[in-house]
Amino acid sequence: MISNTKLLELAAHYGTPLFVYDGEQVINCYRDLYDFIPCPTLQIHYALKANYNIGLLKLLRDAGSGIDAVSPAEVELALRLGFAKDKIIYTANNMTDAEFDKVCATGVVMNIGSLSRLRKIAGTRKGMKLCLRFNPDVCDGDSIHTMTAGALTKFGILLSDVEEVKALVKEGDLHVIGLHEHTGSGLQHAESVYTAMGKLMDIATPENFPELEFLDFGGGFKVPYQPGEARIDYVAMGAKIASLFADFCKRYGKELVMRFEPGKYLVAESGVLLTEVNTLKRNRERLIAGCNSGFPQLIRPMLYGAYHIIDNLSNPGGPRALYDVCGNICETGDRFAEQRELPEIREYDILAIRNAGAYCYSMGSIYNLRSMPGEIVLKEGKVIYQRKRLTDSEMIDAILKEGADY
Ligand SMILES: Cc1ncc(COP(=O)(O)O)c(C=O)c1O
Repeated sequence: MISNTKLLELAAHYGTPLFVYDGEQVINCYRDLYDFIPCPTLQIHYALKANYNIGLLKLLRDAGSGIDAVSPAEVELALRLGFAKDKIIYTANNMTDAEFDKVCATGVVMNIGSLSRLRKIAGTRKGMKLCLRFNPDVCDGDSIHTMTAGALTKFGILLSDVEEVKALVKEGDLHVIGLHEHTGSGLQHAESVYTAMGKLMDIATPENFPELEFLDFGGGFKVPYQPGEARIDYVAMGAKIASLFADFCKRYGKELVMRFEPGKYLVAESGVLLTEVNTLKRNRERLIAGCNSGFPQLIRPMLYGAYHIIDNLSNPGGPRALYDVCGNICETGDRFAEQRELPEIREYDILAIRNAGAYCYSMGSIYNLRSMPGEIVLKEGKVIYQRKRLTDSEMIDAILKEGADY
């Protein structure tokens, strides 16, 4: 944990808003997964969408992580950072033919989640090696928007379509080397992990898919966001996961590789967004603390109703009161927290919005033309990576350049 004193120093030195990440914590989380899932063939593929900070990616690369990429640009970033192509999986969803061709040319294995794409592959890419994504029909996640299985989702091939899949695989002489499922992000129930694994393992028979090399059970490992929220007993969960998989491998007749692709678990808790309060006002009963960041820089509260712990680093012992912590964007919903009890907030206090390492910077935008905050990665107390915030003029230069021909 980076101390509050250090965070205040960083805010003073680099300015706010600022994302700060603890690189050591990311690597510790990565290593923890290998400890808690005692499976000799386990491979962790970091879900790059959670945070594409280059400093963090290099740390994960050096620790041996693979990558789960969801767009051709994510594949390109991973390759250009030196992740080996056989350590990357491209989990495509609604891709264009051009995107398909582009990733195919890199040699990265594609994870195909629709019969439509599989039909095209069977017709035009005879002999291709691929992974298939199935919808495990288990609904879980920390929000309706992050549940990626079941009847409402656009993801994956239905388990009941296995026979059609097999016919297409035969028609295209395709080599299915992996099967995949991802149930959702922030899985609330350990049981969901086991059930979804079971559904995938049920169809992963040598009769259906004789050439399997790996099963990929997606991401979704939850971390606590609320104060006092219990941490999942990952040691018990990991033991159960390993035992289910060992039994499966016996049935399949071969020791397959087990893959997971966590995002949140690896990076969520490593990050904090530092923001400065510049305006205090009262709207009748409500105290409003207005700060110099906003929802485009950390959208989870507005998008998912997500809870992020907020600490007043400048006045931790102040008398407590209820605040709406609002941003600087021209939208009423631009709130990091509503009626949150916090130590007295004064103008120029620095607030730390916790658990800001996953799906915060990477979901960001420059709405209202406010450039994204700078980012700092620390390791052993030292800054090992810095990305500076664009000045207004740099941001405007980039926008004007895009339209320069018109
Ligand atoms: C296919 C896939 N894999 C992995 C992840 C990572 O999920 P999480 O960050 O919850 O671990 C996601 C995120 O939704 C995903 O869609």
